[in-house]
Amino acid sequence: MRVLGIETSCDETGVAVYDGDRGLLAHALYSQIPLHAEYGGVVPELASRDHIRKLLPMIRAALAEAGAAPDSFDGIAYTAGPGLVGALLVGACFARALAFAWDVPAVGIHHMEGHLLAPMLETPRPAFPFVALLVSGGHTLLVEVRGVGRYHTLGESIDDAAGEAFDKTAKLLGLPYPGGPALAKLAEQGSSGRFRLPRPMIDRAGLDFSFSGLKTAVLTLLKNAPADAQTKADIACAFQEAVVDTLASKCERALKQTGQQRLVVAGGVGANRALRARLRQMTAQLGAEVFYPRTEFCTDNGAMIAYAGYVRLQAGAQHGGMAVAARWPLDSLAAP
Ligand code: KG4
Ligand code: ZN
Repeated sequence: MRVLGIETSCDETGVAVYDGDRGLLAHALYSQIPLHAEYGGVVPELASRDHIRKLLPMIRAALAEAGAAPDSFDGIAYTAGPGLVGALLVGACFARALAFAWDVPAVGIHHMEGHLLAPMLETPRPAFPFVALLVSGGHTLLVEVRGVGRYHTLGESIDDAAGEAFDKTAKLLGLPYPGGPALAKLAEQGSSGRFRLPRPMIDRAGLDFSFSGLKTAVLTLLKNAPADAQTKADIACAFQEAVVDTLASKCERALKQTGQQRLVVAGGVGANRALRARLRQMTAQLGAEVFYPRTEFCTDNGAMIAYAGYVRLQAGAQHGGMAVAARWPLDSLAAP
């Protein structure tokens, strides 16, 4: 079975071809970062218009790269939510129109299911069941995953998502959009131990997160500390340590609470090197394993959507259902 995947939920246009026998045959990503940079964040209308411009040439290029003729496809998968509605609609319209022309089914994929299945594109791939930490710009979720579509949320952020906290704190530090990777880079030049920020909700029972207080703590530090470059790097380092510590401690608790032996980490913040190192250490101590997608499949991409579509179509998913949804709880998904 061969599936075309289309991702347009936010500021990245992703396209990929996944083949059940041969694996990933092509994947391409176009980032709109330069388009939104001057506004300091994503402008939804500009995002939608740019997806319209990029999608068709990217699909043509992916088909050429894969050496895949239109009549070799068995289905099309597109991100149906959550995300920016205008941006999602572009992908949904392209996918559904193409599916009509090619006479194949089109299936709408949950963006976070895409992220959580992305490590399946790697070798070795994690076996079910596992605990997934999904950390992106819009979500921070700990999920117990028993199989495809069998998701139980264990905890989530009650305010800012981890990626959002990185982005907002980066802005406070005067770093350019998108802030997460820039802050992580700056943190590597900082020295640990000069500043210490709170570890939000770590002492409280449960598996929820809260990150909005951290940026306020950073703001207070910035007001009272000298404004030199080393100080900024030290603050970035303290911020990253606080987020990494908090995420690692809740992951440890989730593994212990569920008795699971495998942790899967996905979403943009999953690309963070300090987080990866820390989770590797924590899982090793527990005798558990941690799985990540390669860095480029941590952030938004078409490959994860093509793969999730392949899994669902393979299991008999039908064309149809809803077109798009800005909000869509992961737990509401059903097994295919
Ligand atoms: O999954 P993703 O590409 O898009 C969403 O679905 O939101 O995640 C993007 C988020 C952004 O907040 C970005 O700043 C953050 O992931 N991010 C990082 C790193 N790379 C991306 N945060 C910390 N360290 C990184 N290396
Ligand atoms: Zn994402």
